[in-house]
Amino acid sequence: MSASPEPKIQLMDVHKRFGHKVVLDGLNLTVGKGESVVVIGGSGTGKSVMLKSVLGLLTPEKGSIKVDGEEVIGLGLSDRERVMKKFGMLFQGGALFDSLKVWENVAFGLIQGLKMDRAKARDIAFEKLAQVGLTAEVGELGPAELSGGMQKRVGLARAIAASPEIIFFDEPTTGLDPIMADVINNLIVKCVKELGASALSITHDMASARKIADRIAMIYKGKIIWDGPVADIDKAENPYVDQFIHGRAEGPIKMEVKV
Ligand SMILES: Nc1ncnc2c1ncn2[C@@H]1O[C@H](COP(=O)(O)OP(=O)(O)O)[C@@H](O)[C@H]1O
Ligand SMILES: [Mg+2]
Repeated sequence: MSASPEPKIQLMDVHKRFGHKVVLDGLNLTVGKGESVVVIGGSGTGKSVMLKSVLGLLTPEKGSIKVDGEEVIGLGLSDRERVMKKFGMLFQGGALFDSLKVWENVAFGLIQGLKMDRAKARDIAFEKLAQVGLTAEVGELGPAELSGGMQKRVGLARAIAASPEIIFFDEPTTGLDPIMADVINNLIVKCVKELGASALSITHDMASARKIADRIAMIYKGKIIWDGPVADIDKAENPYVDQFIHGRAEGPIKMEVKV
C-alpha cells in the first residue's frame, strides 16, 4: 500500500541524544493512512526511543514529528491529550494493572480518559475481549491469573478499546513461544484491519515483522537504512538488512560493546 498524500505519521530528521550518546541521528519515517509499518533493528538501536518520541514521552532536540500533518514535538498538555486520543498502544511488558480485573484494565482508558460511564465501558471491554478470543469469565479474573499469551491478548484488547486511528506495538511477541507469537500476530493483523487503523510497530522478531507489516523499515545507528514493502525485504541487497534477517553474527553490524 502506498502512502497517501498526507501521512498519518511523519518523522523528519529526528535527533535525540542522552548526554553525549546519540540515539536518533536524523531519522526519517512515514506511516500512511491504513498502513502497517514495522521498524526492525537490534536491541539498543533506538526503536523504543523513536516510539517514545512519537508518543511525546521523550522530546527530540531537533527535527519534526507530525501526526495528521500537525507538529507534535513540544505540544502543550491539552493538545497532547487531544493527540493521544488518536493512539492505542500495546506495551512490551503488557503493563496491566494487577489490582484491576481484566475487563477493568481494558476499560481503563474509556473510563479514565474518555469519561465513559462504567456500564457502557464494561460492555465495550467484553466486546473487545471477545474480539481477541477471550471469554467473559477471563474478564472477571486478575491479570496475574493469566498466561503470558493471554496477557498479551488483554493488552491488545485494551489497545483497541477506544477504536484508535493509530496503534503502536512495542515488541508484541517478545517473551512468547513461536506458536503463541503467531496467534498474537494474526490477532494484530485482524484487529488493525477491522479498525481500519494505521499501525507502527517495533520489533526484532522477523517472523512477526513479516506477518504484520505492509512495509518494513530497518533502523541502525539512529537512522532508517532501508525501507520497503515487506515482499521486497528478501531481495533488499542491503548488507545490514541481509545480516539482520538471517541472524548472522558476521557482517557489517557490529554488536556494541558497552564501556
Ligand atoms: N532515558 C534514557 N536515558 C539515557 N539513555 C537512554 C534512555 N532511553 C534509552 N537510552 C539509550 O538509548 C539507546 C536506545 O535505546 P532503545 O530505544 O530502548 O533501544 P531498542 O532499540 O532496544 O528499543 C540505548 O543505548 C539506551 O541505553
Ligand atoms: Mg525497545
